[in-house]
Amino acid sequence: MRDAASHPPSVHVSGHPLVAHKLALLRDKTTEPKKFRELVRELTWLLGYEAMADLATRVRRVETPLEAVDGAEVEPRVGLVPVLRAGLGMVDAMLELIPTAEVWHIGLYRDERTLKPVEYYNKLPDAATVQVCLILDPMLATGGSSAATVDILKAWGATRIKQVSLIAAPEGIATLTGAHLDVDVHVAAVDAHLNERGYIVPGLGDAGDRQFGTFAGPGKAMSRRNRRRSVDAISGALGCPSGTHRAYGPPSRPHNAASPRLRGDPQKLSTRYPQCGHSPSLDHRLTFAAYS
Ligand code: PRP
Ligand code: URA
Repeated sequence: MRDAASHPPSVHVSGHPLVAHKLALLRDKTTEPKKFRELVRELTWLLGYEAMADLATRVRRVETPLEAVDGAEVEPRVGLVPVLRAGLGMVDAMLELIPTAEVWHIGLYRDERTLKPVEYYNKLPDAATVQVCLILDPMLATGGSSAATVDILKAWGATRIKQVSLIAAPEGIATLTGAHLDVDVHVAAVDAHLNERGYIVPGLGDAGDRQFGTFAGPGKAMSRRNRRRSVDAISGALGCPSGTHRAYGPPSRPHNAASPRLRGDPQKLSTRYPQCGHSPSLDHRLTFAAYS
C-alpha cells in the first residue's frame, strides 16, 4: 500500500509476488480459519526467509560421497518470540526454517479501551539465552505490543531483535521505529491507517480470531463515550495529547472479523498522520471501518 521509500531503512516491506498473492487471500473475508492458518504459515515461511537473510554463518566442513567441501552453518543462537495468541500461528513455519531455534512465548493482549498492551505471560529466564530474537506477531497496529515486547527482550539482554509481521499500520511503524530504530521490521504490507478501535484498515480483521475461529458476533454499536476513549487512546499511542484526533463517521459496531468494510469515501475519510505532525489545528479525523 505504501512505497518502501517512505519508511525508515529498518523497515522491510516484501516485494515478492507470492507474498502479495497470499496476502490477498488472507485478507479476503470469505477465507475460513483452516485456509487462513495455512496462509499465515506460508507467509511466515516467505517473510522468515527474508528476515533471516543476514544471519551470520560459519564454515562447516562436510564429506559428500565424492569429497570434502566447506559448507555453512548458522552461527547465532536464534530465539523465536511469538506474541500470544496470534503469533502462535507463525511458530511452526519458522521452526521448519530454523529447527534449532528456541521458542520463548510472551503473552500480551491489548486492553480494548486504552489499546495499551497488558502482559500476562512471560517465563523468560534471568539472562538471554539467544543472540538473535525474532518477534512473531501477525499484526503491528498501534505498535504498543511490539514496542513492549522489544522492551521486555532488551531488559532480558537480547541485543539483536527483529519483528516479523504480516501487516503493519503506519502508526505502528512510527511507534516501533521511534522507540527502537535498531529493530528490523519485516512485513508483507503497510496498510493505510488504523480505525478508531485500533484495527488496521484495510487489514484483515482480528488475526487471532480468524486463526482460531473465535468470532463473538456483531454485538452492539459503540457508545460515544467509548469511541472518544478509543480515539484518545490512539492519540496517546501516537504521542499526541488527547483531543488531537477526532472520530469521523457513524459509530462502528464491535469488531467482527468476518466482515470488515470501509464505509464512505476513503479519500475524504482518510487521515495522513504522522506526516502532518499532529498539529491540533489540523483536522485529524480518524477514519474507521464499519462492520456490518
Ligand atoms: C493483536 C495482535 C497484536 C496486537 C497488535 O493481539 O496479535 O499482538 O493486537 O496491536 P498493537 O500493535 O496495537 O499493540 P490481541 O490483543 O488482539 O490479542 P490476541 O492475539 O490474543 O487476539
Ligand atoms: N490486532 C488484530 O488482530 N488486527 C488488527 O487490525 C489490529 C490488531
